[in-house]
Amino acid sequence: MLDKLKRWNNKKENVISPTKEDVMSKPIPKHIAIIMDGNGRWANKRALPRIAGHHEGMKVVRRITRTANELGVEVLTLYAFSTENWKRPKQEVEYLMKLPEEFLGTFLPELITQNVRVQMMGNPEEIPSHTRRAVEKAMVDTKDNTGLILNFALNYGSRDEITKAIKEIAADVKSGHLPEDEINDQLISQYLMTSKINDPDLLIRTSGEYRLSNFMLWQLAYTEFWFTDVLWPDFTENELLEAIHEFQARHRRYGGV
Ligand code: FPP
Repeated sequence: MLDKLKRWNNKKENVISPTKEDVMSKPIPKHIAIIMDGNGRWANKRALPRIAGHHEGMKVVRRITRTANELGVEVLTLYAFSTENWKRPKQEVEYLMKLPEEFLGTFLPELITQNVRVQMMGNPEEIPSHTRRAVEKAMVDTKDNTGLILNFALNYGSRDEITKAIKEIAADVKSGHLPEDEINDQLISQYLMTSKINDPDLLIRTSGEYRLSNFMLWQLAYTEFWFTDVLWPDFTENELLEAIHEFQARHRRYGGV
């Protein structure tokens, strides 16, 4: 108890932050998805350019990946760039497209040592070739790793993903490869970019925004949501542990009783 009191969380009265040991004593969510929001506001508050917030956010990706892996999380999906983010100023888009290179250029050896496997979901065609090359290299270099899957959602949009799936299903029905009466929710899942991974158990969104922003609309049907006012560059292992701790206290009923 004394030990727990020492870990008193100053931000919330009467709340004791869980430790890694606390959360590891219960089932860990297998798949955690994060909408990493608030980089721009973090920078604005410090009179810095928005890209400084993205750079700080990149460092958090490193720390949270390491913790998630240590906890035994199987998949960590991070919303790094949406199909709508192209609307941002050109300079910001260019910077965001350089971040995977910088991140992987610096941390790929660490990810390899940690047995992390890098994957990507999203439409690769519009992504600049230098960004694609960096991600593809990381995917190849980590393909045999068996630890955490670090799944970057890059140029990802859920409506775009679902639209493509519907078109492919329609084409397969038309060509006779797929009988129409075999279309069910499991089959639809197989046509999505997440066909090889389970749906997220826990969704985290930072920065006090309460929306999905076109993120994994199909896959989040029965996911537990956890929101925090903390801006992504300020997100720490403690928030991750709090989110998992709260997840562990929830009763998932999947529509049953
Ligand atoms: C949303 O915050 C954040 C993004 C669109 C980019 C997220 C990217 C990172 C955290 C870095 C990714 C790192 C790698 C390795 C790919 P915002 O800019 O909308 O913030 P605001 O709502 O405060 O303006």
